[in-house]
Amino acid sequence: MNLTGKKIVLGITGGIAAYKSAEVVSRLRHAGAEVHVIMTENATKFVAPLTFQTLSANPVITDTFAAPEYWNVKHVALAQLADVFVIAPATANILAKMATGIADDMLSTTVLATKAPVLVAPAMNTGMWTAEATVQNTETLRKRGVHFVGPDSGILACGDKGAGRMSEPETIVEAISDILNRKKDLAGLKVLVTAGATRERLDPVRFLTNDSSGKMGFALAEAARDRGAETTLVKGSTTAKIPDGIRIIEIESAADLLRTMKKECCTQDVVIQAAAVADYRVENPSATKIKKKKGEPLVITLAENPDIAQAVGTMKKNGQTLVGFAAETDHVLEHAAEKLTAKNLDMIVANDVTKPGAGFNTDTNIATLITGNGAEELPIMRKRQLADIILDRITEIRNS
Ligand code: PMT
Repeated sequence: MNLTGKKIVLGITGGIAAYKSAEVVSRLRHAGAEVHVIMTENATKFVAPLTFQTLSANPVITDTFAAPEYWNVKHVALAQLADVFVIAPATANILAKMATGIADDMLSTTVLATKAPVLVAPAMNTGMWTAEATVQNTETLRKRGVHFVGPDSGILACGDKGAGRMSEPETIVEAISDILNRKKDLAGLKVLVTAGATRERLDPVRFLTNDSSGKMGFALAEAARDRGAETTLVKGSTTAKIPDGIRIIEIESAADLLRTMKKECCTQDVVIQAAAVADYRVENPSATKIKKKKGEPLVITLAENPDIAQAVGTMKKNGQTLVGFAAETDHVLEHAAEKLTAKNLDMIVANDVTKPGAGFNTDTNIATLITGNGAEELPIMRKRQLADIILDRITEIRNS
């Protein structure tokens, strides 16, 4: 196993299984990973922080906040640094905090702030693991894309028999490795993703646009990159962090996007169009700044933009897979299904942008995937998790 250069933040909560986490750290270090440990105050009662400091060769962050400013900076720093965020052992308490967004100590604060994949290894008494509250919290976390390893069944520290034992260190490290080295099932494929908002100029200083942040398209491009595809991202105006390791083509208007797609599409195996494209442009944009004329309304005539997805659909080549998005506010499935046919798509991802947690500028989305074979309704989840499901379905379509 090679985890060279991977940055792993390991949260340890208060349970007897905390001693097993020493071996997790040791195995991760042997595999080449950089490990940063955060312990809850209760965890420090089971194992001394010095153990983890020695094994990780990094300072251990605990819940003793001598200097609040330092803590404030640090929780963001560790949240951003992690390639994967692991909590082992994870008590019922931390699962409940994560499910409800409680951030009242260093660990719960940092895990709430992270955008990295999160893996938890629960360890608790069987009664706690099977309690309705824990079952619901676990369900919530799974839906949000949190990965689980274990718990195993057996004789527990309290003497009870049943589910609740933390998975063995070797299994936890394998689960971490699986997340970090995701399947490379798109190796050899060229994937193009469009993201962000187009801008239609009124004059040199003003434009018409929309709320797209680029998060959905970026998540798709990142997922395609991680799964081995040669990935191109055609991006309009965005506010999210631009992913690394991806060929980027910048566009501004729908006309730019059309030109780019005509040039690029024929060489792509998969084209996913998540950009929010203006249906109309300003008919006669002014070459100079439009001056205010007091007391007179400003009348702007809009001309219809070309439908780029439709144009790409008419150029579709054999073996190519085309996926579009539909941002809808009403009759979501009907409108999306019409676009599936009109744009000659293999799949359309319908999102009702009026729902909280869906659509523009959110880290999550709520989507229904529509193909010629029917509709798959998905629960709310992180855009990155949705991106992986979309890529899974694309792979299925290509293999069918
Ligand atoms: O970027 P985020 O903040 O993460 O937000 C994500 C999102 C809401 C932008 C994304 O999930 C989404 O729904 N993108 C499509 C937005 C859109 O333009 O939907 P539409 O229903 O108007 O268009 C349908 C499809 O046709 C889209 O694939 C679009 O790229 C394409 N289109 C639309 C108009 C046009 N003139 N040309 C096009 O190619």
